[in-house]
Amino acid sequence: MNEITTINRTQREYSEAAKKALARAPQLFINGEWVDSSGGGTIDIEDPSSGKVVGKFVEATDKDVDRAISAARIAFDDGRWTGLPPITRERILHGLADILEANADELAELEAIDNGKPKGMASMVDVPGAISQIRYMAGWASKLTGDTIPPYTMPTGMMFGYTMKEPVGVCAQIVPWNFPLLMACLKIAPALAAGCTIVLKPAEQTSLTALRLADFIQQSDLPPGVFNLITGYGHTAGDRMVKHPDVDKVAFTGSTEIGKLINKNATDTLKHVTLELGGKSPVVVMPDVDIAETAPGVAQAIFFNAGQVCVAGSRLYAHKSVFDKVLEGMSEMADFWAPRASLDPEGHMGPLVSKEQHERVLGYIEAGKRDGASVLMGGDVPSNDGGYYVSPTILTDVNPQMSVVREEIFGPVVVAQRFEDLDEVAKEANDSVYGLAAGIWTKDVSAMHRLASKLKAGTVWGNCHAMIDAALPFGGYKESGIGHEQGRLGIEAYLETKSVIMKL
Ligand code: NAI
Ligand code: MG
Repeated sequence: MNEITTINRTQREYSEAAKKALARAPQLFINGEWVDSSGGGTIDIEDPSSGKVVGKFVEATDKDVDRAISAARIAFDDGRWTGLPPITRERILHGLADILEANADELAELEAIDNGKPKGMASMVDVPGAISQIRYMAGWASKLTGDTIPPYTMPTGMMFGYTMKEPVGVCAQIVPWNFPLLMACLKIAPALAAGCTIVLKPAEQTSLTALRLADFIQQSDLPPGVFNLITGYGHTAGDRMVKHPDVDKVAFTGSTEIGKLINKNATDTLKHVTLELGGKSPVVVMPDVDIAETAPGVAQAIFFNAGQVCVAGSRLYAHKSVFDKVLEGMSEMADFWAPRASLDPEGHMGPLVSKEQHERVLGYIEAGKRDGASVLMGGDVPSNDGGYYVSPTILTDVNPQMSVVREEIFGPVVVAQRFEDLDEVAKEANDSVYGLAAGIWTKDVSAMHRLASKLKAGTVWGNCHAMIDAALPFGGYKESGIGHEQGRLGIEAYLETKSVIMKL
């Protein structure tokens, strides 16, 4: 514990590139150009490692949103993107990925400053992840084909039919703050590969890397108007995007609460909707595991990105024969996961993204204690200079009625429970309104697959957690979402299918 309390959590000096990105004038990216907002409103950029305001960006007005949607509408309808040879779209997307790769270090630093995640994590996970989404989807651009039905004879004559895949149209894409650049690229990549045009809105907590993404898109060969960037609040700018009649599809990642609202709001104009929402993912540890490998794995499942991960392994179910050993092994990781300033090269976990999130997470820890949970590790705010830190926290003596067990905390807090048999643990793991993901740790391959088939979750990991691959579809069961991202299903979510039938 001593080591944790003596960590210096003062934020490190920013690089010149980062200072320049933070000093830019607040503008929006519409129709291939940086433009001023129609209003004067701005939103502060805050560094959650220090709580200090370090820059500003535009708070978009309704007029700004309309202007961006109109640019996207015109760019879609005149075919400047949709009408290009698919292989050209593919090449342009790879060109954008090349530019991001060349600027990877700056993007990782900006993500660390804006979100609070360690720069090392952003360099290892967020930036390469974002680039691979673009490269994977680039390949689909030239491989989108329909089906043909063999000609057949009717009394009236010979019939011939085929299907065509067409882009859905103008897409409003709204992303959250936990993986800002990765989420933005996860959204734009399939839309662009399909031939859609876009208005993207990053979260009001983390717009910095999206602004740089727009710079890099401007440097690429993407035609103007195909990608437009709006920064601002969800209930104003985001809401207008969702309700706008010129938008054909809404893709959203964020809270289940706002996902439900967006689904309702998109109904009046019957937009296509893809929702990637919250989770409360169970992690099941079987009796046969190697503790030395499993304990760090299940610690990472919850403490990675300070638990601000939709698939965070936030409900641990360890078999009673290994429960104590697993928790002991996780507790031994406390120093490793001790939060540090995001630009501290030693850091594996940073502060939470905002004051609001800090209060929310601490509120859950308090509620857990009130309900009778015991704090085995953490539960406190470590010493710091004004940042939003929470120590990695393990709660035990919990039961399925407690809010800490039922609700998404979105912080470095795991609730640990014991189980005795497989049927019982499957039931407990499924006792949630969410169904995003689950993890199973075991050497027993048969038990692993039996349990995987019982779990109501869009993704099941075996002996690992939160591994995503652009080629594997990702989506939620139950209240964790609608539709899929990534893989073939991910591109299909941006396509219409047209059937053409002719009498020959
Ligand atoms: P949120 O769902 O309110 O925000 C996510 C995005 O939606 C932001 O870009 C926001 O501007 C936009 N938005 C908000 N209201 C909107 C509206 N009415 N219309 C259109 N867009 C709107 O999430 P928030 O408030 O930042 O976090 C609250 C909780 O949500 C977290 O504690 C966590 O439990 C969950 N969450 C889940 C995420 C996930 O990856 N599944 C990501 C972020 C938050
Ligand atoms: Mg909100």
